[in-house]
Amino acid sequence: MKFFTLLLSLAAVSNAAPTGIFDNNFDFSEDLLDYYGKVSQYIDKYRQNPGAAYACDVSKIALPSYAAGLADQPSGLKPKYVALGRGTQNYTCADSTKETTPTAIGAVADLFNATCIAANYPDLMELMPNAAYRMSLPTDTKLLSSLRLPLGNMQLLGHHFFHDATTPEFNLDTTIDRQFGVLMTNKVSQLKAPSNAFQGQNGAVAWLYLKTVAGTVGDYKAVYRVNTASGAAPKTCEGQPPSFEMQYSANYYFFD
Ligand SMILES: *[C@@H]1O[C@H](CO)[C@@H](O)[C@H](O)[C@H]1NC(C)=O
Ligand SMILES: *[C@@H]1O[C@H](CO)[C@@H](O)[C@H](O)[C@H]1NC(C)=O
Repeated sequence: MKFFTLLLSLAAVSNAAPTGIFDNNFDFSEDLLDYYGKVSQYIDKYRQNPGAAYACDVSKIALPSYAAGLADQPSGLKPKYVALGRGTQNYTCADSTKETTPTAIGAVADLFNATCIAANYPDLMELMPNAAYRMSLPTDTKLLSSLRLPLGNMQLLGHHFFHDATTPEFNLDTTIDRQFGVLMTNKVSQLKAPSNAFQGQNGAVAWLYLKTVAGTVGDYKAVYRVNTASGAAPKTCEGQPPSFEMQYSANYYFFD
């Protein structure tokens, strides 16, 4: 990955409105400033030794320390991929009164390969979903597969959706050349997002530990959803339509 080149190009755009696919829907935010601030620190750090910026040792990938609070985790998991997820959490409401609470019916998200950023620049990871939340992705799948997400020149790694009500699925087969498997998972535990999480409209969805179940293709044991930004439902159904979506972003860590 040309991460060093990428860092420089990010620094260049940080002085001007980004151009291209995100014209008009790319809000320049404080989160983005924080992100680019860290990027420029890394540029300084690697100026003398650009080669080091290309390294990518996946064994260095570690979950954010707050994830240790998730219950019933196995030991000995090996990191494999990390993806930035951007999409919606979907909900339904039986009626539109304040006596009714929304029911979560699943999520739909695009996943972008952030593996080497997680290996090398873990402090960028926690800022990434907050900045990605403000980006609307193209719905056209062709545009999406050719898109490199500006936050790190990230390529589409896969799609996240629900196989059925209790089975979050991660399909990492996007093209004939990019077949990285399919994960069928069940939720084992969840943890309220930390108080400094990006809240968006109604708060950030929980952090999750999911284990793989039958139907999984490839060597995968677990997925973690962490660094969640927004996505939570309103507290009640008051004034809500029968079904609705909340925008969210999060980081997904895949282990075998
Ligand atoms: C993820 O990105 C890194 C760095 O660009 C690359 O080395 C790796 O092959 C990519 N992995 C996948 C599954 O796309
Ligand atoms: C959730 O919302 C997305 C985006 O509109 C939609 O494509 C998807 O079908 C919805 N999924 C469910 C289970 O309602």
